[in-house]
Amino acid sequence: MRLPSGVVTVLAVVLNSGVGLAASPPSRQASATPPPLPPGVSATLWRLSVPKGLEPTPERVALGEKLFREKRLSVDNTVACMTCHEPEFGFTDGKPLSEGVKQQKVMRNSPTVLNALFNATQFWDGRAGTLEDQAKLPILNPREMGMPDADTVMKKVRGIPEYVTDFQAVFGREPTFDDLAVAIAAFERMQFSGDARFDRFIMGDSKALTASEKNGWALFNGKARCNSCHAGNAVSPLFSDQKFHNIGVAAHKQDFVTLARKGVQVVRTGDEKQIDELALNSEFSELGRFLVTKQENDVGSFKTPTLRNVGITGPYMHDGSLATLWDVMDHYNKGGVANPYLDGGMQRLGLTEPEIDDLVAFLFTLTDTKFDKLNKEQLAKQRARKNTRPERDTAIAMGKKGNLGDLAPNPDLNVKNPADLGIYGDVTPVTATKQR
Ligand code: HEC
Ligand code: HEC
Repeated sequence: MRLPSGVVTVLAVVLNSGVGLAASPPSRQASATPPPLPPGVSATLWRLSVPKGLEPTPERVALGEKLFREKRLSVDNTVACMTCHEPEFGFTDGKPLSEGVKQQKVMRNSPTVLNALFNATQFWDGRAGTLEDQAKLPILNPREMGMPDADTVMKKVRGIPEYVTDFQAVFGREPTFDDLAVAIAAFERMQFSGDARFDRFIMGDSKALTASEKNGWALFNGKARCNSCHAGNAVSPLFSDQKFHNIGVAAHKQDFVTLARKGVQVVRTGDEKQIDELALNSEFSELGRFLVTKQENDVGSFKTPTLRNVGITGPYMHDGSLATLWDVMDHYNKGGVANPYLDGGMQRLGLTEPEIDDLVAFLFTLTDTKFDKLNKEQLAKQRARKNTRPERDTAIAMGKKGNLGDLAPNPDLNVKNPADLGIYGDVTPVTATKQR
């Protein structure tokens, strides 16, 4: 079978993502049979994302879930992973900025763990290459779970008899920090999420979306140009290009040039632990991907997040600075906030208010139907705030102010709406004709 070029790209991204742990496998070969997957989650992507030897076996998953909920992994027994990634709330905490031990705030917003198994890199700046690497950092971050070092963590875990028994049963040895990370990552590898109303639509149920939501999807791929970074298709079911962009969030608060100059001095060792502390506990947080690469063009760049379940994972952006999806639309409509490192793909969009409503309506169709109730509540809450719009600047968006010039010629106007193509993931379209 010949793979489409997109699949090869995904494969390359997966293969290139860092493998820095003793517990990580020597290679990232595709692993065995995936568990039953919901519509919208492709078995191909699952196989590419789950490394051989690190499959989520039921025993690891059960232990991983227990550890994910375990407050004793924090210095004062008050904070678990779950504190900031609450499963019932789409694995987020609903706060602009997360709070760890002793009510300390970190500098960033808690992203969802749903579908994190498919991320090419972890964290807003991609500083961790694997879920195993990622899981260790919050336990040791002084503002999150506050444990001083891995030895102290493991001394504590080995002092809890049920964990000694559990680790022995699952890994055949006494608890280690690496095995603890493997178990937590196994639990996270079961947190795939699809089965949104959008998936039913794309599989051929044209009644699954309203006229307004369908128009939002067309705008997403057309006039609003969201698909240039958040494309949703068979090889990109997360609506993320997995790349890093400066879209001018909170840019008005920064003198990026000075901050970057100071930043270069500070990032000395540049290991994951140092970057973790700079990213979450210091003013250098806003430098984003730059802290990892030290490349000037990465200043203020952050990872394009998935848009699946976005209706229930607000507030938005790396710093939680946008409260609603209407605010997000206002941000994009005016072309973001100008700064020397703004991504070239950011420009004013000239979207009218009804078009913004349609785009927001579309974004709410990307939520897994198991969160239907919460999704509806969130939509109602956000709609109630629709008339408070701190980010709105209609004059700039419409080109009546500022120097963002004419709207660029729309590159997508003649492209068929991808929804009409009816192909998505590994699913067989119900009514639409198959592409060859
Ligand atoms: C104090 C709140 C807090 C705690 C506790 C916490 N997290 Fe997080 N988590 C965050 C924040 C904030 C980020 C984003 C940080 C960044 O990108 O710089 C994050 C990022 C992540 C990501 C990356 C997701 C992505 O899309 O890049 C994963 C996975 C994750 N956390 C899992 C965990 C696990 C596992 C634990 C427990 C071992 C944990 N978190 C504990 C707040 C928390
Ligand atoms: C140039 C690339 C790019 C384009 C174009 C783009 N985005 Fe984004 N999007 C990003 C990046 C990068 C982030 C995270 C930025 C940050 O936090 O600083 C983001 C964040 C978001 C978020 C917040 C998600 C969360 O979990 O916090 C939403 C919602 C979103 N984008 C929707 C859209 C929509 C709708 C459009 C079209 C109007 C669009 N984006 C266009 C790159 C892009």
